[in-house]
Amino acid sequence: MHFSNKKIGQTGLFIFVITLSIATQVRSQEMDHSTMNMEKSEVKEDKSVDHSSMDMGTDMTKEKGDMKNMPGMGKMNDPDAMAVMRGKMIFQMSCFLCHGAKGEGDGPAARFIGPYSHPRPNNFTMGIFKFRSTESGDLPMLKDLMRTIREGIPGYMPSFRNVGEEGIKSVAMYIAKEFIQEELPTTTTIKYAKHVGPYTYSAKSAWRGGLLFKIMKCSECHGDDGKAGRMDLKDERKLMIHPIDLTRQETFGNGTSHEDIYRTIMTGLDGTPMPGYNDSFLGEEGSAWDLVHYILSLQGR
Ligand code: HEC
Ligand code: HEC
Repeated sequence: MHFSNKKIGQTGLFIFVITLSIATQVRSQEMDHSTMNMEKSEVKEDKSVDHSSMDMGTDMTKEKGDMKNMPGMGKMNDPDAMAVMRGKMIFQMSCFLCHGAKGEGDGPAARFIGPYSHPRPNNFTMGIFKFRSTESGDLPMLKDLMRTIREGIPGYMPSFRNVGEEGIKSVAMYIAKEFIQEELPTTTTIKYAKHVGPYTYSAKSAWRGGLLFKIMKCSECHGDDGKAGRMDLKDERKLMIHPIDLTRQETFGNGTSHEDIYRTIMTGLDGTPMPGYNDSFLGEEGSAWDLVHYILSLQGR
């Protein structure tokens, strides 16, 4: 885990970054070329495509010395490094207002998102993620970050489908490298039973799910009818959080497809009181579909 306590002048930084992004967009060619010529004499004037992508990555906020230590020419041959650079650019344009330049969830706009209640923009440096396909306590996989960025989080974070799959992947890679600073897992130990055969929807399965809902004490938080209570809980930042009304799929942050709900139940939502139940279903992973079907039946679908 990496905690950084450095405080930054948010407003100053905001204006600085916006000004720089505009300047970069408008005159990326001359500006970056002149920088490069100053910093690295061996870089020749060359208007190739590779150069312009490299220019995008030219560090806009960090110390200039970076350029000297990491010869840009090496990076141009490393697709991952190039993707991270592209991701940084996207982050500075689209994410930092909420997530903060250091990924600590304290961007200039973050304070408008329920200052006293959950959820706040994720502080990536803490390494706690709700939306994973991995075990509770583990980091998400790259594809999990990508799903969140692609789909957005209803009510809290827009979808960034418009930056395209490559863009989504690059910004996820940037978050992993720059803020999480750990290798993301590429596999999960959780078994995901296929939604086929005996595990597909049936009224009987939904009925069994209703029983499980009580036996497994989901109802203690979500209420007997799934409509949640007024139960006041706390998240890991000690902010107020309420269980979700399971009859209203539009409030689901982790997706509303059958597979999404199944994943939520198995993994839980780290950083919140919602536990992961994969251990309870060991060897009986198919039975978790009963719970999914019960929730679907609460929503009339
Ligand atoms: C309008 C504010 C806003 C913007 C802009 C925004 N986010 Fe978020 N983001 C949030 C909030 C709020 C949460 C926490 C929601 C929750 O916990 O339910 C979040 C959570 C996340 C998470 C963590 C999800 C998890 O598993 O816990 C990721 C990853 C993420 N955002 C990535 C991004 C990226 C990448 C961008 C830019 C492309 C971005 N966000 C832009 C508000 C924003
Ligand atoms: C200790 C309290 C608690 C228990 C027990 C609990 N939940 Fe939750 N659950 C929560 C909270 C709190 C949230 C909302 C988290 C948030 O806002 O990010 C939630 C959210 C959810 C969601 C919505 C996830 C999303 O996409 O946003 C589903 C589905 C869900 N729970 C199902 C269940 C099921 C099924 C069980 C029992 C197997 C269960 N929960 C047990 C507290 C609980």
